[in-house]
Amino acid sequence: KPRIFSGIQPSGGLTLGNYLGALRRFAGFQGTGPETIYCVVDLHAITVWQDPAELSRRTREIAAAYMASGVDPEQSILFNQSQVAAHAELAWLFNCVARLGWMNRMTQFKDKAGKNSENSSLGLYAYPSLMAADILAYRATAVPVGDDQKQHVELTRDIAAKFNHDYGVEFFPQPTPLIEGTATRVMSLRDGSKKMSKSDPSDASRINLTDDADTITAKIRKARTDAEPLPGSAEGLKDRPEAKNLLNIYSALTGESIDEILGKFEGQGFGTFKPALAEIAVDVLAPITSKMSQFMADPAEIDRILGKGATRAAEIAQPVVEEAKGIMGMIRSR
Ligand code: TYM
Repeated sequence: KPRIFSGIQPSGGLTLGNYLGALRRFAGFQGTGPETIYCVVDLHAITVWQDPAELSRRTREIAAAYMASGVDPEQSILFNQSQVAAHAELAWLFNCVARLGWMNRMTQFKDKAGKNSENSSLGLYAYPSLMAADILAYRATAVPVGDDQKQHVELTRDIAAKFNHDYGVEFFPQPTPLIEGTATRVMSLRDGSKKMSKSDPSDASRINLTDDADTITAKIRKARTDAEPLPGSAEGLKDRPEAKNLLNIYSALTGESIDEILGKFEGQGFGTFKPALAEIAVDVLAPITSKMSQFMADPAEIDRILGKGATRAAEIAQPVVEEAKGIMGMIRSR
């Protein structure tokens, strides 16, 4: 049975990268056949320190963002990870299937741990194994994500294959990463070689879903660019990462191709292009931001929705984990 699963960490405010690369695509899978399951991954967030009150607030904020972008908690299952014990339980089983060498190759760990990896949490290292559990506890078949999560979904496939092979079963499917569009990797506004990230120390490097129109406009105006005018076609953007990033964002926001956009702006400078981009970004984001704050005005309602989603999620995930334990030879006598 086709099933879509995706997750977002409540470890910071959402960025335009999260929105264009992942979030805005989620609602579109509803009503197309596969069951859709969307998670706020609070257990992943605590792999680095989170202030408890902030973690609660951000968990609700991510839930609000899912709903503001069209995820309907009736049509989809929307919940926070820690309310469904199957995730942590299956992650342990996978910790015993995955190999240290596989984890050592994960680039996100290397980026997040930095030079001081000795002082990272053990959870940060095991992070991909929990992500595999998120996906495979539902035996999900497709995982819409941004480009930066591709390696983790591939590792999930390796874990599924090794489990099946080691126990001689065809139990876990091979989930496919769905990485689509012109915004699979939105870059920092300050540095075209770094991805836009909620954890970047510079707020000017990103557009947050909670930024107001003036802030968005100012950040785009100050975005780093070169001094060349815009070329007539996409080929002319080679070796111009900052320009390319702004055009990709424009393209993702409007649905126009890069060549179409350049047809309108050929020969013009960023002094003309940036205000046009800012206007479009504000138009797209303002309704999302305002819906998010409407949802956030009623935190008890968000908690109720997450609780209901968690009950539905557990009904799928818990039997899968029980079956996996049975396959491994664990006795269940009550
Ligand atoms: P997270 O919370 O960092 O990001 C959420 C989603 O946003 C995408 N994304 C981007 N897309 C384009 N450009 C960017 N600059 C950008 N930054 C982030 C991410 O690829 C992601 O799709 N490990 C995951 C959360 C997770 C998960 C899962 C996802 C946990 N379990 C199971 C899918 C399935 C993460 O840290 O995403």
